Amino acid sequence: MKYPRQPPITHGVIPPLERLTGAKKQVRKLNEGIEMPFSFAVTGNTTRFDYLLPQLQTRDCLLPEIPAMHRLLCDLGNSMVEPEDQPPRPDSSIPSAYTYFGQFLDHDVTFEAKSEEMVKLSDDAFRVLTSEEIRTRIVNGRTPAVDLDNVYYQPAPRDRSRMVLGFVAGPDGTRTDKANDLPRKPRNEENPKDDRAALIGDKRNDENLVIAQLHVAFLRAHNAIVRRGCNFDEARQLLRQHYQWIVVKDFLPRICDPLIVNEILLGGNRFFRPDADDLFMPFEFSVAAYRFGHSMVREAYHYNANFPRATLLDLFTLTAFSGTLRDFDRLPESWIIDWKNFIDGGSNFARPIDTELSRELFDLRSFGKPMPLPVEARLPVRNLLRGYMLRLPVAQAVAGALDLRIMTPAEIEEVARNVSDEQLNALRAGDFARRTPLWYYILAEAAVAPFGRLGPIGSTIVAEVLIGLVRGSKDSILRKKDWKPTLGPAPGRFSLRDLFVLAGVLTETPDPTQPRRTNMSTRIIDKARAKRAQMVKDASVAGVNMTMAVAALKGGIRSPEWRAYMMQFVEQDPPGTPVDPRRLDRLLGTDNTLGDPELDRKRAYLASNAICGPATPNTFTLGVLTIDDGLDGGCGQPTPATSIAPPRKVGKKRGAKRRR
Ligand code: HEM
Repeated sequence: MKYPRQPPITHGVIPPLERLTGAKKQVRKLNEGIEMPFSFAVTGNTTRFDYLLPQLQTRDCLLPEIPAMHRLLCDLGNSMVEPEDQPPRPDSSIPSAYTYFGQFLDHDVTFEAKSEEMVKLSDDAFRVLTSEEIRTRIVNGRTPAVDLDNVYYQPAPRDRSRMVLGFVAGPDGTRTDKANDLPRKPRNEENPKDDRAALIGDKRNDENLVIAQLHVAFLRAHNAIVRRGCNFDEARQLLRQHYQWIVVKDFLPRICDPLIVNEILLGGNRFFRPDADDLFMPFEFSVAAYRFGHSMVREAYHYNANFPRATLLDLFTLTAFSGTLRDFDRLPESWIIDWKNFIDGGSNFARPIDTELSRELFDLRSFGKPMPLPVEARLPVRNLLRGYMLRLPVAQAVAGALDLRIMTPAEIEEVARNVSDEQLNALRAGDFARRTPLWYYILAEAAVAPFGRLGPIGSTIVAEVLIGLVRGSKDSILRKKDWKPTLGPAPGRFSLRDLFVLAGVLTETPDPTQPRRTNMSTRIIDKARAKRAQMVKDASVAGVNMTMAVAALKGGIRSPEWRAYMMQFVEQDPPGTPVDPRRLDRLLGTDNTLGDPELDRKRAYLASNAICGPATPNTFTLGVLTIDDGLDGGCGQPTPATSIAPPRKVGKKRGAKRRR
């Protein structure tokens, strides 16, 4: 496509109105010529992409450039569909609000729409872009910073310090005074792309109704901060920082292995360390690892009291970007989301991350119409072809560069076999178990990881990049010593739930994760007691256990040994029942309490106590049994062999080769 060129404007000259109007018309015309809504939504400001692991841009580390590769990847993508005739996969432990928070965050940091203009995925002439083309022509339509440019960027309208919202319609279709819709343009019969289009910093946030309602929550949270006496800049800064806190403290530990998140937070980034003034978006993150969220999307949700089963298709239709708002002028009041259903204690949980996607994601829409060509309408096919086209290294090469364990071909095939013969055949046909497309691998690895979270490679890329981006962002909370949230229910506490409360889209109710702590502790006490009783019964078990415990204590809190050891205390009855991740997190300290000196000491004592079997000459016999017991209950001092270093120091031991 040819871009119309305007003669350059000399610096400092104010262009006449006619010239601006002319340019605007040309841009509109240009947008009309582009079929994909995703290109349409791209903004004027651009930043750069690059590779996280540029050393892997060699032929050996990429998928082979052969004519059959397009078809092989299409076959693999097509096989990733959730089977129709089976019940939906069991819930993960991640409430569904975090699926769409993840998408919202994606829309804050990355937007690649240029490759689509260069080579169409469905073209016969589809090809891999050259390194030169990628370096010079592929740009990011967002700032990679975690800065909410998707909320504050043009054309988001402002009214002095406040962000402008839209009002929902009452039962008779007229406007109510409830500010629960996105601000929208009026109807425009002639131009579907303009018709009731959301006036927001990133149009993709009107792609489905859940993310649109999340965007509303952010606009309202900004205004709530303004009502507390802040001007626009102050409110934006505070909201940004609280949002960064949610990313780091609430979102990441749910999605990734919390031990990896903590390690990067406390010990620093190892792989993604851009210069402070040259933040960039890594392709491995945006085109593969961070697309894990596509697998979390559910086919239907318990949306609110009016719509106990809203399908994904409903949620697309009730937007102006994918759908037609069902021909309403504005969102009907009955479709205001009930966030209670989407957070802890609610009924909607994300699909576990694996190599299947909801069927609706094989039928993507734009402006109410299905996308014209099957390749474009099928999200997994798009992801795989995009990764190939943008020269993503295969997972095996990435694992080597990150120094992490890679699944064997047999293990990868096992994941595919568990989905369908079709997926297994597609995997084999492309030799993809040995040279695995990175996005597919991230999902396969998650499929066998606990709690429906990401596995080691996915966790490392996602946490490295997001923490690195937060570190490099304007107003970064990670560059301000001891920054703590102030807008939550208590100083130092803030989560996505608290953002909803601040925004007035969720009534303040007790956080189910808080009272559960007592229950959880009680259960852990019982478990620990039972475990210890079993351990001391048999001298040989006690001996093995002592060796393990000593290794765990020496390895230090946060080490894989520690984790393996502590896992014993959360074994479930009956065997095979999934472990409650919150119980585990509490015990391991990955519920953001790691580093709390008192709790860490208790954790360490809990482990030490298990050493106190008959095989152990010990001073711990009366020691602490659980993280909730008092520390002074007659427990002796640790012996030199098991002495416990202060946890932070232990945790700082970096550079050791990670074993997984
Ligand atoms: C209903 C939900 C969603 C839909 C319909 C959707 C759809 C899409 C589409 C069509 C693309 C462009 C694909 C291409 O041609 O390369 C895309 C890109 C992407 N999606 Fe999603 N997505 C959804 C949810 C999510 C979630 C939950 C996440 C992550 C947690 C996510 C992360 C991404 C990322 C990182 C990209 C690349 C963005 C860029 O750099 O341009 N998406 N998505």
